[in-house]
Amino acid sequence: MTNLLVLNRASRHISTASIYLTVITRWSSTEFNYQDIIPNLNLINTKNAPENFDQSTAVVYNYPEIISPSESEILISDIVQRTCRKRYQKGHWDSVISGYKEVEFAEDSLSNVSQQVISRIRHFLERKHFNNRDGDVHNINWLPVHGIELKEDGYLKPHVDSVKFSGDIVAGLSLLSPSIMRLKKEDSSDDSHVDLLLLPSTLYVLSGESRYRYTHELLDSGVEFCSDLDENSSIIHRCKRISLIFRDTKED
Ligand code: OGA
Ligand code: MN
Repeated sequence: MTNLLVLNRASRHISTASIYLTVITRWSSTEFNYQDIIPNLNLINTKNAPENFDQSTAVVYNYPEIISPSESEILISDIVQRTCRKRYQKGHWDSVISGYKEVEFAEDSLSNVSQQVISRIRHFLERKHFNNRDGDVHNINWLPVHGIELKEDGYLKPHVDSVKFSGDIVAGLSLLSPSIMRLKKEDSSDDSHVDLLLLPSTLYVLSGESRYRYTHELLDSGVEFCSDLDENSSIIHRCKRISLIFRDTKED
């Protein structure tokens, strides 16, 4: 009898402890000190940028707090499970994208880990890219996350994302392969541009003029990248790439 009581009491403690543990894990996986997370200047080249380019509108973050290596693997496998039965789509002659597979998923159909990564990134974007001067966070409505798998010889040509449905930011989590994203001022005929190096597991965010006034595209494999902080360039080989695109809804 006494033994049973002790056991009961012990299991009550254990279950209380495990509730705390769950709460702490949940908290730490969606919350981190977003103020400490700053754009990585090794991943941007503004040497050929147009005059007065606002660098805060095109940034790349490279932090394991955003997505850890093991989370990347789980996310990739979740996405590939959904793309593996699809065929690569060919673009028409004038299309922006070719050699790709596209998925839009119900988030609750993904693994818990992938769901956590998605809500953590949204949380981060809300706090870092949508807060007003008083530090208040707007209530953001998110479009469903969009997954794109691009073949090594697929392409994504210059375009501005639709302004009809999609709101003030376009953010992308890059997986599997590095690539270079080039931004060019719309309607400009000169060669000025800004390059972002999208390493696997990095998050890029386009807002303001980079979202609305600049086109973005992915460069072919084998192009050189040299960051603002570097003198030496390296050649970036783009292989099969997966991206997860985060967009807020357009406000009326
Ligand atoms: C897009 C796009 C970029 C990426 O789908 O509109 O620009 O990182 N994608 O896949
Ligand atoms: Mn786009």
